[in-house]
Amino acid sequence: MKNFRDSEHLLRFAFLFAMVLALFLIVRHFVVPKSFGEYGHYRGAAIGETAARPIHFAGQSACATCHTDIAATKQAGMHAGVHCEACHGPLAKHAADPASVQPPKLDTAVLCVRCHAASAAKPKNFPQVAAAEHSGGLVCETCHHPHSPAIQSEGAK
Ligand code: HEC
Ligand code: HEC
Ligand code: HEC
Ligand code: HEC
Repeated sequence: MKNFRDSEHLLRFAFLFAMVLALFLIVRHFVVPKSFGEYGHYRGAAIGETAARPIHFAGQSACATCHTDIAATKQAGMHAGVHCEACHGPLAKHAADPASVQPPKLDTAVLCVRCHAASAAKPKNFPQVAAAEHSGGLVCETCHHPHSPAIQSEGAK
C-alpha cells in the first residue's frame, strides 16, 4: 500500500462493498423460494403444483369411445381436424360422468363465426364468409351440419 499516500479510503470502500454483498446474500436467502434451482433455473416445487391442477379437457379420443357415430361422421368431413372440445368446450367432467354432467348447448350464431368470419388477416385458402350476407339471417345449421359442414350437393362433405 505504500504507493498510496493514504490507503484508508480504499479499505473503507472495500468494507462498504463487503457490506452490500452480505446484505444482498441475506435478502436473497429470504426472498428466493427454497426449491429454486433444484432442477434448473425455476422452482422445483412448481412441477408438482402444475401437475396437481385439475384437468379440464378430456381429449377427442375420450369423446370417441362413447360418441362413436359422431366421431366417424366428423372424421369423414371437413371438420376432421377440428377437435370436439374446440367447439364444445372443456368437457372432462362430462366424459368422466355423462349421466350427471350434461354439456351446455352451443349457440352456432356465435360459434361458427368465431372461426369463419371473413377477415383479411386470415389465410386466403381458409374457408370464410361474411356471415350476415352469406346466411341471409338464418342460423348456420339450417344448411350446414356442424359435424360435417360442407354442403352435401357440392359432392364433398
Ligand atoms: C362415458 C361415455 C361418454 C363420454 C366419454 C363422453 N360422452 Fe358425451 N354423452 C354421453 C351420454 C350418455 C350423453 C347423454 C345421452 C345423449 O344425449 O347422447 C352425452 C351427451 C353429450 C352431449 C349433449 C347431447 C345433447 O343431446 O344435447 C354432447 C354435446 C356431448 N355428449 C359431447 C361430448 C364430448 C365433446 C365428449 C368428449 C369431451 C363427450 N361427450 C364424452 C356419454 C359420453
Ligand atoms: C365445429 C364445431 C363442432 C365440433 C368440432 C364438434 N361438435 Fe358436436 N355439436 C356442434 C354443434 C353446433 C351442435 C348442435 C348444438 C348443440 O347441440 O349444442 C353439436 C351437437 C352435438 C351433440 C348432440 C347432438 C347430436 O348431434 O347428437 C353431440 C352428442 C356432440 N355434438 C358431440 C360431439 C363430439 C363427440 C365431437 C367430436 C367427435 C363433436 N361433437 C365435435 C358443434 C361441434
Ligand atoms: C375451431 C374453429 C372452427 C369452428 C368453431 C368451426 N369451424 Fe368450420 N372449419 C374449420 C376448419 C379448420 C375447417 C377446414 C378448413 C380446411 O380444411 O380448409 C372448416 C371447414 C368448414 C366448412 C367447409 C368449407 C369448404 O371448403 O367446403 C364449412 C362449410 C364450415 N367449416 C362451416 C362451419 C359451421 C357451420 C360452423 C359452426 C357449426 C363451423 N364451421 C365451426 C374450423 C372451424
Ligand atoms: C341458406 C343456407 C346457408 C346458410 C344459412 C349458411 N350457409 Fe354457409 N354455405 C352455403 C352454401 C350453399 C355453401 C357452398 C357454396 C358457397 O361456397 O357459397 C356454403 C359455404 C360455406 C363456407 C365455405 C366458404 C368457402 O369459401 O369455401 C363456409 C365457411 C360457410 N358456408 C359458413 C357458414 C356459416 C358460418 C354460416 C352461419 C353464419 C352459414 N355458412 C350459413 C349455405 C348456407
